[in-house]
Amino acid sequence: MDPRPILILFGSKHGQTEKVARRLEMALRERGFRVELVPDDGIPDDLRPERYAAVVVGSSVHFGRHRRALVSFVRRHAAELARVPGVFFSVSGAAMTARPEDVEEANGYLADFSVRTGWDPAHAVAVAGAVRYTAYNPLVRWVMKRISASRGLSVDTSRDHEYTDWEQVDGLAGTIAELALPASRASRDRPGRASVSPAPAPPAPASSAPASPARTAPAG
Ligand SMILES: Cc1cc2nc3c(=O)[nH]c(=O)nc-3n(C[C@H](O)[C@H](O)[C@H](O)COP(=O)(O)O)c2cc1C
Repeated sequence: MDPRPILILFGSKHGQTEKVARRLEMALRERGFRVELVPDDGIPDDLRPERYAAVVVGSSVHFGRHRRALVSFVRRHAAELARVPGVFFSVSGAAMTARPEDVEEANGYLADFSVRTGWDPAHAVAVAGAVRYTAYNPLVRWVMKRISASRGLSVDTSRDHEYTDWEQVDGLAGTIAELALPASRASRDRPGRASVSPAPAPPAPASSAPASPARTAPAG
């Protein structure tokens, strides 16, 4: 096994992207990898992608944008990142349903990140986030309730709703593990370059049960 650690760089406003990043960290540690988990508000100046066996970047989406600090870090290091097995995951509300327009939006975020940064990771995936009504101010709660209603998601604002598909996340850990193994480096194109293939629509979620389809897209 490559003795270098795996880097998971994440940016999260309300905690769901961090939860996904921590789940990946745990799953990779269980597979015997060393993992460094770095939040986007604490990126050391001397962080160098090439010191890692693989680099994973995870960002939440707010108002159609990924986290600014991650976009700028990845853009600055795009040339170096191109030489390291890379995975990007985007955590959004659009990924919470299998409606074609939402799938298109979620995949659009992946493409947008690639265009803005110039990074073409081996694997890029949209992950469903959470609706944390209890953490929002009244205006944001009202807006999120309207968006959720339009998507057929829960409008029960008395509690939070998690739509992340943890099986998808565990599968992602497997993909990262494959990419981080030196033997898989020669065939970097294999594990993640699947075409966009939205899964069939799940039943409309009325609770916090995982409800998102697995979704994979090329990032460029
Ligand atoms: C103010 C606000 C704006 C959001 N904007 C978008 C958006 O433009 N597109 C989208 O798909 N999801 C959007 N979402 C949903 C978030 O991406 C989702 O809640 C995600 O889980 C947030 O990740 P975090 O908990 O790591 O911050 C928005 C959520 C909030 C609260």
